[in-house]
Amino acid sequence: MTAAADTATPPVLPEALGSAARAFVAGPHRLLIGSERLQAADGRMFSTLDPATGREIARVPQAGEQDVERAVQAARAAFAEGPWATMAAAGRERLISALADAVEEHADELAQIESLDNGKPVALAQFVDVAGTAAHLRYFAGWPTKIEGGVLPVGAPNMLCYTRREPVGVCAQIVPWNFPLLMAAWKIAPALAAGCTIVLKPAEQTPLSALRLGELALEVGFPPGVLNVLTGDGETGAALVDHRGIDKIAFTGSTEVGREIGAKAGRALKRVTLELGGKSPNIILPDADIEAAVKGSYQAIYFNSGQACNAGSRLFVPAERFDEVMSGLVSQAANARLGPGLDPGTQLGPVVSAEQHERVMGYIEAGRAEGAEVVAGGEAALTDSGGYFIAPTLFSTTSDELRISREEIFGPVLVASPYETLEEVAGRANESEYGLAAGVWTRDLSSAHRLAAMLRAGMVYINTWGVVDPSAPFGGFKASGVGREHGRDGLEAYLETKTVWAAL
Ligand code: NAI
Ligand code: MG
Repeated sequence: MTAAADTATPPVLPEALGSAARAFVAGPHRLLIGSERLQAADGRMFSTLDPATGREIARVPQAGEQDVERAVQAARAAFAEGPWATMAAAGRERLISALADAVEEHADELAQIESLDNGKPVALAQFVDVAGTAAHLRYFAGWPTKIEGGVLPVGAPNMLCYTRREPVGVCAQIVPWNFPLLMAAWKIAPALAAGCTIVLKPAEQTPLSALRLGELALEVGFPPGVLNVLTGDGETGAALVDHRGIDKIAFTGSTEVGREIGAKAGRALKRVTLELGGKSPNIILPDADIEAAVKGSYQAIYFNSGQACNAGSRLFVPAERFDEVMSGLVSQAANARLGPGLDPGTQLGPVVSAEQHERVMGYIEAGRAEGAEVVAGGEAALTDSGGYFIAPTLFSTTSDELRISREEIFGPVLVASPYETLEEVAGRANESEYGLAAGVWTRDLSSAHRLAAMLRAGMVYINTWGVVDPSAPFGGFKASGVGREHGRDGLEAYLETKTVWAAL
């Protein structure tokens, strides 16, 4: 079957796409269920677009309830029987390492697929998404042989009591479009390390890299059914969440959908971890190295066009340094090179979709209407391209009550505000339903660590922003989520504890 069979007119792909990525994107694309590559049972498909042009790049199957049923059954079978169920821990280590190797071997291809499907600069895709994916797999490849229980000093005489750590079972893993491959890796790596099996659902805006990752897993020798990939939208995700054969749900995405999934998981008593939105405060103290703080704060929000859950979207600046910081940010924003992700000169890509463009532009309008001052940007950019570009936008306001100050925008929009004292700013920073990340820029060790303790957030960055490592827990307080990914905490979310009692 050729790509032409799946699309009316085969899409014209950008010239910058290399041959491996081009061959993959041209398709045809299929659901990965067990060892099979399948069309959706009802034959439905949907388009994925190039956010730099708004044009279709590929069509992929829209998985429905029957496909969810088949995928969950394949995952259940692989969990209960067959080579995965009986594989020694060292075997899981070898396979996860082999997948990390494969990701590195296909790094250029994966980075180009990601850049085309999501819109992000290809260098960012290479050094953040693809490199992070390989690092994550490598880190979790080390875990299987270190998962151990203990022998317990129980009071009963002549009693042996020990714990076993067992995989939680079949996992539904639902990921968003901002870091499609990396978010898939954050989910699958600990689940595979624990011995779980998976049905992975990428976001409808960016389905391609997860399909490629699933193919690579089969190529390196993961038994069929261990990692199934279903492309589809929120309906597919909901069907997966609702399926009785799912033991655990891991979700990254909007707080709205996260609440719904959390409620369903509560009712069904399924295990759940949620990584949701943020409105993260970034605080510059009066003694900070202002040049470094401006550079870091710029990156904190505009990196990935503001489409990061841990974006530093609320900036607090000492009143006496406000103008200096604003003018530093304005000059960086004015020099930002916007363009298609595959263009090597691009620093800022488009946002992911027309829907997201409209959403972010709506917030910019609301900010203006509510009286915030536009200091930079404030408008769509490269409007002739057909793509979803937005100029890096900076608002200044003294109010914390505006929608742009309270709600997650998830675009290249920063809201800056002056403050007077440390206690004041800590209180204002915490005045949010979210608690994902927070940042402090200072040369003073004491203020840095006092603030780090005061801020209600899952991650606090001091004189830096957004650093991530597979060993360092990632996740939020309050409405930013439930549980942690990465490190030992991330692994624990995929394990059950069994206590065994034996009278001797
Ligand atoms: P979303 O939460 O609707 O989508 C994320 C994933 O969940 C996608 O794979 C989607 O297909 C799936 N999904 C949607 N509805 C579902 C349901 N009822 N049950 C199960 N799965 C479902 O997010 P969306 O609509 O793409 O973006 C809206 C806003 O969410 C963004 O503007 C941003 O504020 C926030 N967001 C936050 C992310 C984060 O990293 N924390 C990532 C993406 C979006
Ligand atoms: Mg949605």
